[in-house]
Amino acid sequence: MPEMSLNIPADKLPQHVAIIMDGNGRWALSRGLPRLAGHKAGTENLRRVIRATVEFGVKYLTIYAFSTENWGRPPEEVKGLMYILEDVIDRELAELHQEGVQLRHIGRLERLAPALQEKVLDAVELTKDNDRLILNVAFNYGGRAEIVDAIQNIMKDGIAPGDVTDALVSRYLYTAGVPDPDLIIRTSGELRVSNFLIWQAAYSEWYVTPTYWPDFDKEEYRRALETFAQRDRRYGKVSSNEYEASNA
Ligand code: IPE
Ligand code: IPE
Ligand code: MG
Repeated sequence: MPEMSLNIPADKLPQHVAIIMDGNGRWALSRGLPRLAGHKAGTENLRRVIRATVEFGVKYLTIYAFSTENWGRPPEEVKGLMYILEDVIDRELAELHQEGVQLRHIGRLERLAPALQEKVLDAVELTKDNDRLILNVAFNYGGRAEIVDAIQNIMKDGIAPGDVTDALVSRYLYTAGVPDPDLIIRTSGELRVSNFLIWQAAYSEWYVTPTYWPDFDKEEYRRALETFAQRDRRYGKVSSNEYEASNA
């Protein structure tokens, strides 16, 4: 494939991209394959997207791999998804580490099998000094669970009500220290947030595509970034052009 350069000025590149990797099941169904084959294909695609992220120079990538609601799927599928996480760590960790990727986990680790928990923690420990890309893996992640955990910890720490601010809450989230996502990509066309980064997404820009996750390629990723670069992020204010014009 020919190299594709990004047509974006550096200050319009998102610092943090978050992805709801959706549509693996339908991708498989459309090929007459079992759903797990879709998850497998999704994992292959994740490799490519991580590499593209490094190449594009995006600093933070958060991927939604398993939600707190996904436990409600058939046991075989849940088991398969757990196995896939384990397998991805086994097969990809060394290379990711070599490429300077720092792995982090967001979500409730406690519910995973002890051996898997250990594997995740080891991967986090191994890569903790890398800084080319910070990769947050949202696994057994739920936005509401995250906020509940934050409130519990704020109360445990005896924080006075008057000291609870936006910034303080952010520091108690799993994503403490990570800038809010600038761009959230959702594949497979669903127009919903599905409990993903509900606090952090307050002013994120969205890119939703009908493409199923296993087919979301580098070319479309580049388009998503270029579309983002065209957006006028107003944060509730008026656009800076208008403001300058009205004050001229
Ligand atoms: C996303 O694909 C992966 C996970 C939620 C684990 P889905 O499995 O949700 O695929 P669809 O939405 O059923 O097609
Ligand atoms: C969101 O996708 C969760 C992940 C991609 C891990 P779902 O497929 O679980 O979301 P819903 O059920 O369509 O809202
Ligand atoms: Mg889905």
